[in-house]
Order: sequence, then structure tokens, then C-alpha cells
Amino acid sequence: MQQIPTQPSTPRPSPIGRWLSVLVALTLWTTAGLVIPLALPGCGVTEIPDSVFYPLRSNPLVNLDKAPASAPPAFPPPGKPEVSLKWLEDQGVPILNPDSLEKAPWGTEWREEVNTFLLSQFGTPAKPRVGTEGVDGFATIAKLSETLQLTPAVLERGSKQYRRLCLHCHGLGGEGAGATSGWLNPLPRDFRQGEFKFISTAEHKLESGFQPLKARPRREDILRTLHLGLEGTSMPSFGLLAREDVEALASYTLHLSIRGEVEYWALFYALRQDPETLKAVEKDPAKESRNRAIRFLSGALEWEDPEADVEDFVSKAKGSLLPAGMAKLLDRILREYAAADKNPILPMVDPYPSDQPTPAQSLANGLKIFQAQCVNCHAGYGRQSALRFDNWGGVVRPANLTVPVYKGGRRPVDLYYRIIRGIPPCGMPKANVQEGDPARQAWDLVRFLMALPYPDSLPSDIRQQIHGGAKQ
Ligand code: HEC
Ligand code: HEC
Repeated sequence: MQQIPTQPSTPRPSPIGRWLSVLVALTLWTTAGLVIPLALPGCGVTEIPDSVFYPLRSNPLVNLDKAPASAPPAFPPPGKPEVSLKWLEDQGVPILNPDSLEKAPWGTEWREEVNTFLLSQFGTPAKPRVGTEGVDGFATIAKLSETLQLTPAVLERGSKQYRRLCLHCHGLGGEGAGATSGWLNPLPRDFRQGEFKFISTAEHKLESGFQPLKARPRREDILRTLHLGLEGTSMPSFGLLAREDVEALASYTLHLSIRGEVEYWALFYALRQDPETLKAVEKDPAKESRNRAIRFLSGALEWEDPEADVEDFVSKAKGSLLPAGMAKLLDRILREYAAADKNPILPMVDPYPSDQPTPAQSLANGLKIFQAQCVNCHAGYGRQSALRFDNWGGVVRPANLTVPVYKGGRRPVDLYYRIIRGIPPCGMPKANVQEGDPARQAWDLVRFLMALPYPDSLPSDIRQQIHGGAKQ
């Protein structure tokens, strides 16, 4: 077998040296941020030196591909996501710790290869990029990056605004662990898993005919979150910013999310201990790194085409395999976001006139669907919901639907999106409205949800059932 050709690279500081330089630069930058605005009005913490890098992922990775055996006992204390990860670990869910990579003889080189790729394709906080360096064999990356409004000028503007408005919650690299996060429940989002909750993308396939890896948001969805915030959480509204700034922030959120996801999968394949990887490693322990890179690459290739000839690709590959896999993954993720934008959910026409009260029969039908499909999570209409783990290994409570507070928006169409698409990272499935007349089924459920918090708007038998004697 051929030796792994190492990637030609410019001399870089060791990981520890790099960390130190990040730390020093960050400290200087933060201190400068505190001092300079006092001295020079108009010049704020948004400036950041070129020498500051995005932090390397150091917190554990979790990949909940099936629901854990039992529910979490409570919410973890604010700012302590490690507590709920420990609960998962106690149930036998693998929690992958990037620190353990350092212990493997090949780990430092793997990490360096990941860092080099991330730096070349995503830049630094001062000069954020997405794929503008160009990647051999992937002409589409630079083009898609433009389609998705991820050009350097837009990202630089977004990065500045992000440091001003979002960093204290979402963190420099989008890890959701900014200074304020220690006081918050729910925690600010960790963007680095590429998952969003409040989406209005119809289920669709890629042009290649395969399913997207994850349910991607449309750009519109991120803009909605920024304009209105997430009601009932600490995520504020940024509706008063200039339109260009909100657009740039949406682009920058995508940048952090895509960068984080590429890093996530590259580390995931280095750390996971699935039977197939273990078998390959056992056969030839000296080639563990190469075997893992091949598994990552075949993952990246097979996500697109289960018939892909991985061996052929490996034998022809000129450079290192890990960056080739990361480039393939980046290309794929960009195509998924672009496809999401082209596939909005197109709501079925509401069969009831909007200027008249909802007919009692519609509410009764909505209640019937709710009892069949929703009460197992939203017990007591959400008053007694049991807690669940979400895909970040955090804890979430199925909403109390007797209170009219909706994170993803309160317009009828927002509730329509929620039930038609579900909330994938929280395990909330989409509603089944296919029986009989789907438009009626869907809108009956939405209308029931909208009336549910208001006893007065429910027919007396339903009101009695849900609210007892209460009228308001
Ligand atoms: C005070 C803290 C705070 C600040 C400031 C903040 N966020 Fe958030 N953000 C949150 C929290 C908390 C959540 C997650 C809520 C949840 O999942 O229930 C969140 C979630 C999000 C989401 C995910 C929406 C989805 O569909 O899943 C996006 C996107 C987002 N924030 C972007 C931003 C951007 C961009 C900024 C700055 C302009 C920002 N946030 C500022 C706390 C904050
Ligand atoms: C597997 C569990 C599960 C099922 C089944 C489920 N949900 Fe949910 N639902 C959740 C969770 C968890 C949340 C909270 C998400 C969050 O706060 O981030 C939620 C939140 C919601 C919200 C609030 C959305 C918002 O914007 O805040 C609505 C509305 C909702 N569900 C409606 C329904 C309806 C209607 C059904 C049945 C068709 C249903 N759910 C079935 C788990 C579930």
C-alpha cells in the first residue's frame, strides 16, 4: 500500500503554541475592546487582529442517531452542557472527546490536517471565507458560496456585527458557550453541528437524487429568527438593524455553521469506535490514521452515492485523503443549503375564511389529530410534558401549548411549518395529515393550536376537557 503523502504546508506553530497565541491575542483584543472605546468613541470591540483564529473544537461530540433509553431527569444547570452529556454517557451513548485525539500517535497530525483545511477554506474571524481558496476538483464550491451570499465582503461585515451582538452568547466560533451562556436556559445554540430547529424547507432530494444529510433551513428562516428573535428564550430580536447587517449576520451564521459541521464530521470519524472501524484498525494498527481517513472519505462519497468506488478513488488520490473527504463534504453541505432555498414549504390553501370564527367541527377535528399524534410528548397539552434529549445532547421540554408562546413564530403559517416539518433536532416528528383531505387536516390542527390557549374561543365541551371550568 502506498504511504500517505503528507500535505505540503507552510510551517505552523505546534497546537499548544497556536493555542497560546490565540489566548494572548484574544486577551489583548478583549482588553483593547474594553479600553479603546473609552479612549476613541466610535471604535469598538468589533475590530479583531488577523492573528486570532477560530477556537479548535474541544468539547465532546454526540451523535444521537437513535433516541436514548430513558428521559433526562432534569434540565442541566445553566451553562453546564457537560451535565446532560454525562447522563447520556451513563446510558451507554458514546460521547466522543476531542482531547483523546491528542493521545493517539497519529492524532496531532490529523488535527493539524483538519486545521489547515479549515483555515484555508473558512479563514479567520477577521477574514472569514467559505471556499474562496478554490479546492481541486470542486469548481462548484466557490460558485455555491456566491449563490449563498457567503462572499468575503459580506462575511467580514457579518463577522463584525456578530462580535458586537452575538458573540457574548454564541461564542467566537459559534460554540454556544459565550460569557452570557452561564446564565441561560435554554443555552445559546451551538451552530457547529449544522442543525437548526425552525425551518420551512419542504422535504426534497438533491439533484443527484439523494436525501440531504440534515434538514437544512432556508435563508428566510434564519432571517426570520434574526428579525423576530425566538420568543420565550433569551435569543433577542435584531429587527432594528439595517437590512444589510441582518443579511450579513445570516450569512455569517451560515459560515460558522458550515465550518463547524465540516470540523464536526472530520473529528467524528477520528474518534468514533464503531465495529467496522475497530475491525480495520485491529487488522493493521500502524495504519489506523489511514484507515480512519478512508472511512471518512467513503462516508463522504457514499452520502452522495452508495455505489461509489472508494478503492478506485483512494488509489488515484494524489494528496492526503482527509482533506479530499472534507472538500467533498463541504461541496455537499453547500449544495444542500442551496437546494433548501429552492424548496420552500408551499402551504396548502386554508379551507376556512380568515375573517370568520373557526367552525366547532374544525376544532374538534384538530383536537382529534392532536390526541392521536401529539399527546405522547405534549402530555396534558404540554402542561405535563416529559423532558427529552435533543441532538446536541441537551435537554428540551415539549412546549406547553396552553400558553401562546412560540419560539418559531406565532403566525398561523409558522405553526403550519412546525407541524408539517416537525422540529428535527428535538425529535418532534412531522404531523401525518394525509388522511382524507390533507389541507383540512393540516389547517384544523393549526386552528386548534391557535385556539388552545384561549378557553373562550373553544366550544364548551372541548373547553371543559382542556381547561376545566376556567374561562380565560
Ligand atoms: C442573550 C443571548 C443571545 C444573543 C445575544 C443571541 N442569541 Fe441566538 N440564540 C440564543 C438562544 C438561547 C438560542 C436557542 C434557543 C432554543 O434553541 O430554544 C439561540 C438560537 C439562535 C439561532 C437558531 C435558530 C434555529 O432555527 O434553530 C440562530 C440562527 C441564532 N440564535 C443567531 C443569532 C445571531 C446571529 C445573533 C446576533 C445577531 C444572536 N443569535 C444573538 C441566544 C442568543
Ligand atoms: C417526539 C415528541 C414530540 C411529538 C410527538 C410532538 N412534539 Fe411538538 N414539540 C416537541 C418538542 C421537544 C418541542 C420543543 C422544541 C423547543 O423548544 O426547542 C415541541 C414544540 C412544539 C411547538 C412549539 C413550536 C415553537 O415555535 O415554539 C408546537 C406548536 C408543537 N410542538 C406542536 C406539536 C404538534 C401539533 C404535534 C402533533 C402533530 C407535536 N408537536 C408532536 C416534541 C414533540
